[in-house]
Amino acid sequence: MRLLFLVCVAASAHDIITTPITWSREISRIIYTRCASCHRPGGMAFSLMTYKEARPWVVAIREEVLTRRMPPWGAVKGFGDFRNDQALTPEEMELIVNWSEGGVPEGEEKHLPKPPKFDKPPGLPKGGIVVKGDYQLGRKFTLDGIVPVAAAPMKLVAELPDGSIEPLLWLENYRPEFAHPFLLRKPLDLPAGTWIRGVPPGASIRLLQK
Ligand code: HEC
Repeated sequence: MRLLFLVCVAASAHDIITTPITWSREISRIIYTRCASCHRPGGMAFSLMTYKEARPWVVAIREEVLTRRMPPWGAVKGFGDFRNDQALTPEEMELIVNWSEGGVPEGEEKHLPKPPKFDKPPGLPKGGIVVKGDYQLGRKFTLDGIVPVAAAPMKLVAELPDGSIEPLLWLENYRPEFAHPFLLRKPLDLPAGTWIRGVPPGASIRLLQK
């Protein structure tokens, strides 16, 4: 008897829908653009492509997104500014929170977007200067991005000849299995004589030129 009662409560709790946000309209679009490159059949992680697949993960999805563990990025936010950062916007996070707290409604099939197609990942950009330890630029260099080569926790800055310091990249929990470049939102002009500081012993990076 008691067991039956609990089951009924759990089932009805799921049915109370208190949000207009649905999987079909809003959430699938977020997952398709931010998550499905890895979370799909044949991807590197379990699929989140359908409501059925995503529904059991809703609590974890919320947790991973709010703590910014997913999508994996590997650098401290706010130190440097990157155009390929896949982090969710505050508005997208709010949609996920409201959806998960509002009964996790599926919505109507007709609102579902087309599932995305995935080309081969572009791979890491080639070329650039390999930097190990502190490094002084012998000529003017327009920095377009940074590729971790032998990654380790590091806080990279550029020290310009006029003494000013530019934050570049603060790597933390970067996972080589999710290797990706950090592409600057705006290319940065570094005069000859600029020091790149912060690559610890044993680690290396590549500076990409614009
Ligand atoms: C670059 C690939 C990649 C992207 C993009 C990505 N994930 Fe993941 N995710 C993984 C892998 C791989 C795992 C398996 C556990 C691990 O290695 O961290 C995982 C694990 C998870 C888990 C399970 C965590 C747990 O409780 O163990 C959740 C939930 C999750 N991802 C949600 C998301 C969401 C939501 C997004 C998009 C906002 C996303 N992921 C984007 C690769 C990715």
